[in-house]
Amino acid sequence: MTDSSTAIRLKHVGMTFNDQNGVLETLQDIHTSIAPEEFLCVLGPSGSGKTTLLRILAGLETPTKGRVEFPSISQPRVGLVFQESNLMPWRTVMDNILLPLELRGVDRAEAERQACDLVELVGLQDFTDVWPASLSGGMAQRVAIARALIQDPDLLLLDEPFGALDALTREKMGAELLRIWQARRKTVVMVTHSISEALLLADRVLVLSKLPAEIILDLPVSLPRPRGEETRYSPQFQKLAKELRGALA
Ligand SMILES: Nc1ncnc2c1ncn2[C@@H]1O[C@H](COP(=O)(O)OP(=O)(O)O)[C@@H](O)[C@H]1O
Ligand SMILES: [Mg+2]
Repeated sequence: MTDSSTAIRLKHVGMTFNDQNGVLETLQDIHTSIAPEEFLCVLGPSGSGKTTLLRILAGLETPTKGRVEFPSISQPRVGLVFQESNLMPWRTVMDNILLPLELRGVDRAEAERQACDLVELVGLQDFTDVWPASLSGGMAQRVAIARALIQDPDLLLLDEPFGALDALTREKMGAELLRIWQARRKTVVMVTHSISEALLLADRVLVLSKLPAEIILDLPVSLPRPRGEETRYSPQFQKLAKELRGALA
C-alpha cells in the first residue's frame, strides 16, 4: 500500500556490528515513520548509534534487522552534511558546490544555472571564487549545505552539522538552516546534541537511549512557526526542553 503521508518508514531496524572486538548491538528495534517535508531531530548519548542510523537512511549501511522503506520513491536522492564540511581544498567554493552535478555529468553552464539561486539562498554569493582554506567554520558549513542541496535531494541528512562551531555561530547557523528549509522544504533528519537547536528546528524529536539504542522519547514539537529568538523564552519551549533533558538524563 502506498501512503503519501509517509516519506520514510523505518521498520524494526536493528544494527549489530561484528568485528575483531566482538559483537556490538547498536540499534535495536527502531520503528517509526517520517512524513514528507518533516524536520526530524535525533538526540541521544554519544555512541548511541545516531550516525549509524543516518548511514542506514543514506543507504551506506544495511541494517542487520528490519528495513527502511521509501514508499513513494524508488531511488531516493540523499544529501549528506557532516560535522566537518569535508570540502575539497583544491576546488573553489563554487566548484565544491557543483561537484555532485559534475559527477552526474551535468554540463557546466547548466550546473551553474542550477547553483545560482542556491548560492544566494545560503549567503555565499560573494564567496564563489574563494578557496575553502580561507573560510570560517560557519561559511564552510554553508558550502557543505549548498553542496548537499544542489542535487535537489529527497532526503537531507545532517550529522551534528554545527557541532564544531562556537555557540554564537551555531545559533546563527541554526536560524539560517531554518530559513533554507522553509525555502526548499525537504524531508530532513538531523542529529544534534543541542536541545534548543532541536526545538527551534524540528517538527519532532526522537531521543535514543544508551546502547543497545531504542527510541525512549518521540516528542512532537508543536511550537508555532516561524520560530525565532523569542520562541526560546516561551513557556511551551521550556516545557519541551525539560522533557528532553529528562529523557537524556
Ligand atoms: N563500522 C563499524 N564497526 C564496528 N563498530 C561500529 C561501526 N560503526 C559504529 N560502530 C560503533 O557503534 C556505536 C555507535 O556509533 P555511532 O553510530 O557513531 O554513535 P553516535 O553517532 O551516536 O555517537 C559506537 O560504539 C561505535 O564505535
Ligand atoms: Mg555520531
